[in-house]
Formats: sequence, C-alpha cells, structure tokens
Amino acid sequence: MPVNADAADAEAFARMDEHAQPGPVGIRRTDARLRAFLAKCRERSAIVGVLGLGYVGLPLALRFAEAGFRTIGFDVDAAKVAALNEGRTYIKTVAAERVRAGRAKGLLASADFALAADADALIICVPTPLTRAREPDLSFVIGTVESILPYLKPGQLVSLESTTYPGTTEEELRPRLERRGLRVGEDVFLVFSPEREDPGNAHFNTRTIPKICGGSTSACLEAGVALYSRAVDKVVPVSSTRVAELTKLLENIHRAVNIGLVNEMKMVADRMGIDIFEVIRAAATKPFGFVPYYPGPGLGGHCIPIDPFYLTWKAREYGVNTRFIELAGEVNSGMPAWVVSKIADALNERGKPIRGSRILLLGLAYKKNVDDSRESPSAEIMEMLRGKGAVVSYHDPLVPAFPKMREHKFDLLSQTLDEKTLKSADCVVLVTDHDAFDYELIAAHAPLLVDCRGRYPIGGANLVRA
Ligand SMILES: NC(=O)c1ccc[n+]([C@@H]2O[C@H](COP(=O)([O-])OP(=O)(O)OC[C@H]3O[C@@H](n4cnc5c(N)ncnc54)[C@H](O)[C@@H]3O)[C@@H](O)[C@H]2O)c1
Repeated sequence: MPVNADAADAEAFARMDEHAQPGPVGIRRTDARLRAFLAKCRERSAIVGVLGLGYVGLPLALRFAEAGFRTIGFDVDAAKVAALNEGRTYIKTVAAERVRAGRAKGLLASADFALAADADALIICVPTPLTRAREPDLSFVIGTVESILPYLKPGQLVSLESTTYPGTTEEELRPRLERRGLRVGEDVFLVFSPEREDPGNAHFNTRTIPKICGGSTSACLEAGVALYSRAVDKVVPVSSTRVAELTKLLENIHRAVNIGLVNEMKMVADRMGIDIFEVIRAAATKPFGFVPYYPGPGLGGHCIPIDPFYLTWKAREYGVNTRFIELAGEVNSGMPAWVVSKIADALNERGKPIRGSRILLLGLAYKKNVDDSRESPSAEIMEMLRGKGAVVSYHDPLVPAFPKMREHKFDLLSQTLDEKTLKSADCVVLVTDHDAFDYELIAAHAPLLVDCRGRYPIGGANLVRA
C-alpha cells in the first residue's frame, strides 16, 4: 500500500509507544535512533547525501533540496562537482535554473567523502554495468560503500538505488556495514529503493513517480519511508530489500521482453508487407489486456539492455534459466544487424554497394529527446556500416560530438541538417526520432530514407522501413 509521510510517522510512533516500557536494550536503542531520525525527516533538518550525480542522482539531489533538505551531492567526477557548485547543468533534461535554485537552497557538491559523516542519509546512485563477460559489475557500488564506510556513524540511513540483482543489499552492503561494527536495524538503517527516473519524460518526474522501498528490518523500512515520503508524493513499502530489488528488475525485464516481442513481430510483418506500427496502433484501441510497445533499431541506455542480465546471472545460482530474458536479448541485440541488412538491400536495389556509400544517421541518442547515447544502437549500426566500407556521418542536435564510448570510437561531429547534407547522402537512416527533427525536410531531400521508427507511412518511393 502506498503511504504518505504523516501516516507513516503516526504508524511508526504508535509501534514504538507500544513497547515504550522497559524492553530489550537493542529495541530501546533502535527506537531512540529511529525516533531521532524520524524527527529529523519531519522537521527537514536531516542532511541528505546523494552519491553519484548522474541521470539518477542529480535530479534526486535537486528534489531533496527542493523539499527543504540540506543536500550534499558526492561524485568522483571533479567536472560534475565543479559544474554543480557553479550552478551549471551537464544533463540536457535538467535545466540550469533548477541547478541554480538547488544551489540557492543549500545543495552542495563535493568529491570529499569525509563529508559523509555530516549526512543523516546516504543514498547511492552509481552505475551498475555488466562486465565484458556480461556479468554484474558491482565495483562502483562496492567502491562507493567502501569510501563512505570510515565516515559512517550510528543513526544514519544508507539507501541503495542502483539497479541490481536480489540479494545485493543483504549480501554485499549489510556485511560491510556490520564488519565496521554497525548493527543494521539498530545502529544504522539500510534500505533498497530503486530509482525509476525516466529522463525526458514530460509527464512524470522524481516527485511524482511512486517510489518502492524495502528495508533490511522493519525499523530500516520505517526510516526509509520517512525520508523518501518528504521528497516523493507516494512511497510504496515492500516487505524486504530483495522484493524491492526484484521489483525493479521485473519492470525492466517486462520492457525488454515486450520490446523483443514487437521486434520479432516487426520482422514478420515486414516480410508480409504489413505496417507493424499500424497494427500496434490498432491493437492499442483495445481498452484492456493490451499494452503497446514499439519496435526499433535495438535497445539502448543504461537500463533495458543491461539490467535483465543481472537477474539471469543470479538465477543461475538457484539453478534457473531465464529463457524469456535470453530470448528477448537475442532478438533485441540482433536488431542493429537487421537494420544494416535493410540498408544493404535498399542500396543494392539502387545499384550501390555499402562500400563507398555515404550514409547519414539521424539520432545518436538511444531514445528520442534525450542526450544520452550510452549503449545506443546508432553507434553499433555506424560501426557495422563503417566495417563494410561505408562513409558514415550523423546528425543529432542533442549530441553535438560523438562521445567517448567503451566499445566505439568515431572522430565525428554532428552534421548540420539541411537540404545539401541530405542530398549529398546516398542513404539517410532515421534511427532516433527526436521531436526537433524537420521531418518534412528529411523526406523531401533524402534520396533514400530508411525509417527505424515508423515516422513515415510505408509505400513512399524512397522509403524503406527497418
Ligand atoms: N539513467 C536512467 O534513466 C536510470 C533509471 C533508473 C535506474 N537507473 C540506475 O541508476 C543507477 C545510476 O544510473 P545513472 O544513469 O544515474 O548513471 P550515470 O553514469 O549517469 O551516473 C553515475 C554517477 O556516479 C558517479 N560515480 C561513479 N563512481 C562513483 C563513486 N565511487 N562515488 C561517487 N560517485 C561515483 C559517476 O561519476 C556518475 O556521475 C544505475 O544502477 C542505473 O541502472 C538509471
């Protein structure tokens, strides 16, 4: 059941009053610490530390500052720390005015982890990527925990928000806190509260997206709910950190599997000469039992291509094969190659090989209207085309220069999108459908247009769906 701040407090105090009589020392100590923590949340005198100021941590830190908490943002990236302290933003979807307002409300950025000693709550929002062997890479999470361990003190709350497999909080965080001599649930409170940030979503933000919270103990949960419910409209408590961890994975796996399904449907529909986007739009008129997902050139971003494999890895320990995840991964990761095959076929029909063709990709970000190009299928498509001898270029108003990537290296700047650029390409590929694109201009001047997003109706002479 979702809870609000006052109801959560009332419930916690009632529970504590029940055993306010002399009882076991552990319980009395917990209650005193919990009471103090709840009071600090209620009075907004708690100092909130957010560790990792990226797409998740920055909006969260700003939200706590907006909610009236003194907030310290920690990051190992000195450039981000400097930018925030100077009131500048480094994420397109977070406005500079918001950062300046956050600064005015007392948000401070720092790379000095000793300041963790001043915080009442420490919220970890660092990356959880995969290793080259596609196994969970918890090095950022563990590194962050290790760097705050010397500064932890009784009465603090530690919350992990990074997406991860069920068991991480109990198996990786809890023992580290306890080895430091802090009993979880008595001395310090520990929760897992997954982030559900959707950068660029105009309808939901950090405050309005309901927040799941699971605690290591019931006191931990009470502390977590008390803190988050001051910054977020609705907190949804769950019975354990493992439930909270798996909830986040289910959400992302649900997306990955359904996107895999529509990508497969797209390839079938393509062979049959049917417009898959028209089919999905028609099916979506059913008022119950159908949720529309849309096909595309492949998965991108920090979450959907990666998170499901956290569960795959952990499930093996329990002797379970996650076949839906593997299958969706296979279909989705095959999409860039499928797009390249459609480009090759379309050029071939015009008597051109890929080798030597000038191919302009539109959209380098992994999804529309964001500047995030992590795991973007555009980069993979560019890599495959270059490998076949194409002369590739790109246009993305949100990604002016090809960023540093682990797997891909291109020394390219975004091209100007005009009639001349479009006409000089042999093939233009719409990979990411930013709202900022001039779709009429593109259709009017691209000699051959490969559309991965269903923006153009099928049947045009120079149009190919991929
Ligand atoms: N991006 C999203 O839309 C999104 C949505 C929901 C959940 N998540 C999850 O949230 C977590 C963070 O993702 P993100 O997109 O914000 O990542 P990000 O790469 O944008 O930001 C992470 C930040 O952590 C910093 N960092 C790395 N090591 C650190 C350390 N030891 N101490 C302090 N800071 C450190 C990095 O410099 C970076 O600024 C991941 O687990 C991700 O799966 C992301």
